[in-house]
Amino acid sequence: MDNENGELTEKILNLKKTRGAVILAHNYQLGEIQDIADFVGDSLGLSQKAAKTDADVIVFCGVHFMAETAFILSPDKIVLLPDIHAGCPMANMITAEGLRKRKRELPGASVVCYINSSAEVKAESDVCCTSANAVKVIESLDAEEVLFVPDQYLGHYISTKTNKKMILWPGFCPTHIRIQPQYITDLRREYPQAKVVVHPECRPEVIALADEVLSTGGLCRYASRSEVKEVIVGTELGIIHRLRKENPGKKFIPASEQAICPRMKLITLESVLWSLQEMTPAVKVPEEIRLKAKVAVDKMLEIGRG
Ligand code: 13P
Ligand code: SF4
Repeated sequence: MDNENGELTEKILNLKKTRGAVILAHNYQLGEIQDIADFVGDSLGLSQKAAKTDADVIVFCGVHFMAETAFILSPDKIVLLPDIHAGCPMANMITAEGLRKRKRELPGASVVCYINSSAEVKAESDVCCTSANAVKVIESLDAEEVLFVPDQYLGHYISTKTNKKMILWPGFCPTHIRIQPQYITDLRREYPQAKVVVHPECRPEVIALADEVLSTGGLCRYASRSEVKEVIVGTELGIIHRLRKENPGKKFIPASEQAICPRMKLITLESVLWSLQEMTPAVKVPEEIRLKAKVAVDKMLEIGRG
């Protein structure tokens, strides 16, 4: 760690204590942010932590829907998102109004929303899921017809694992679609011993080439297995920091150097310090929406990991 980061880190850790704060970070965050966090995890793990923490303040190092979910679960806490512009473009590909319209066209369908969605969209959904439990959540439903929003690629992946009729919203992750099938084919030739692990937000043509399709938390657990020595990583690049830190001596090869989520990278040591100093921007959700959204999130948490 250089001197500047060392000083910032010290200030953050001191102020964190004074404020009674906990720092939660997603696996795609910058390495220096992961290193100061109390917990680093996938969307499901972060929601579980946010539901349980007894800290007064949650500093959410991730994107807007994650901070919103933390507030939905813990409304008595202050939830800080150090950069208010850190929004997920996929979550912005659907509005509550658009979803209401589609629901009117499909009266028999259960609505399942990926956690990468706004509180308003969650409030219009029957149940929420993450990439770690999507198939389990869909299989738990009585309905045979499911409207899945907003990620068409995660939805498509689920449709290969269930007999339910899946109707997909046409959203996608702009970062994961940068990973092309040709990159996987080329890297497999270069590293014939390596396992290929991809995130279910990838295109179906990429998923078809993978050995494993896992959430970011699932990938971290998989990488720690003793028989796994070399992995071609088909997801956002931030996770490579954690994989290398937890698995010294193993080889992690990014499927694409282009797979960077710019919104995730808006959270910096400077913005975390500023946010703790000013106690802003605090993410909140109107109570009426929060209560409806909480039903969908709670159902997901009851189901747990897939
Ligand atoms: P997970 O960490 O839940 O796999 O999600 C990936 C993601 O895109 C979060 O924005
Ligand atoms: Fe959204 Fe994709 Fe970034 Fe995740 S990686 S926050 S899905 S844009």
